[in-house]
Order: sequence, then structure tokens, then C-alpha cells
Amino acid sequence: MKLEFDIASGDFSKAGRASSRIKKMLKQLQVDPKVIKRIVVAIYEAEVNVVAHSVGGKMLAEIDGTGITVIVQDNGPGIEDIEKAMQEGYSTASKAVRNMGFGAGMGLPNINRNTDEFTIESELGVGTVLTFRNNF
Ligand SMILES: Nc1ncnc2c1ncn2[C@@H]1O[C@H](COP(=O)(O)OP(=O)(O)OP(=O)(O)O)[C@@H](O)[C@H]1O
Ligand SMILES: [Mg+2]
Repeated sequence: MKLEFDIASGDFSKAGRASSRIKKMLKQLQVDPKVIKRIVVAIYEAEVNVVAHSVGGKMLAEIDGTGITVIVQDNGPGIEDIEKAMQEGYSTASKAVRNMGFGAGMGLPNINRNTDEFTIESELGVGTVLTFRNNF
């Protein structure tokens, strides 16, 4: 089963759309609630990052018999130093974004903690691709 979502830049009211749809879907499939909780956290953080830090992108989720794989890709600006971005507390979020309660620098570490597999690829001026998977 494949699901696809567009993620618009700047629209925080719509962040959470993909994660809640996928949550519903996994509940219907009677996936272990602990697994659902973890993947929903990861998806939400990834959605917010596209909204907050990129010009926009999309998410693809594929559910198979043994787990869920999620690919989140955006069209830039890319991440300059992935190692730094992965550190807890590192954030380049704008003041406006911080005032909305984001920008603690915990999103990527949270994705890492809540997934079984996680990779980030990024190219400056091109974009960022996050790929993560949780097994049921
Ligand atoms: N899709 C992206 N495109 C460009 N830069 C990104 C992207 N995702 C993350 N980053 C960069 O990595 C940093 C760390 O991301 P992370 O999600 O850990 O923290 P945050 O988004 O700043 O704060 P929080 O997630 O706690 O609200 C961001 O501040 C930003 O500089
Ligand atoms: Mg974040």
C-alpha cells in the first residue's frame, strides 16, 4: 500500500496531515500501538522540517507485510552539515518558527530514536531526502 502527500513550505497548520492519516491507516491494520507511536513521531518531525526549513516537498509512505518505509523529499535548500544537524539542540530555525514552538533542535534526533533504519541525503541547492523504516 502506497500513500503520497504534498508538503507545502510555511504552512504549519497542515503539518501533521500525513502523520495522522498514516496513524489511522496503521490502526486499521492493527499494527502494534508502540510501533505506530514511534513511526508517527518520526513522520510528524519530518513533515514539520519540510514546512519549517525547506521550499516544500512530498512524502511517500509504503506499507508492506513487515513494516513501513517513509521517504520525505524536498526541493531545497539542503542541509550544509548533516552531522551537525543530527546533534540534539542544533537548530537554524527562524525566530518566527521558534515563536510557534518549534526549533528546539530535537526533530532529527527524535526521528533517529524512533526508527529502525534512518538515512539522510542532502545536497545544497538541490534538496534533502530522508528515508526511514520501522518493522512491525
Ligand atoms: N528538510 C530540511 N531542509 C533544510 N534544512 C533542514 C531540514 N531538516 C532539518 N534541517 C536543518 O537541520 C536542523 C536540525 O533539525 P531538527 O529537526 O533536529 O531541529 P529543528 O527543526 O531546528 O527544531 P525542532 O525539530 O526541535 O522543532 C534545522 O534547524 C535545519 O537547520
Ligand atoms: Mg525539526
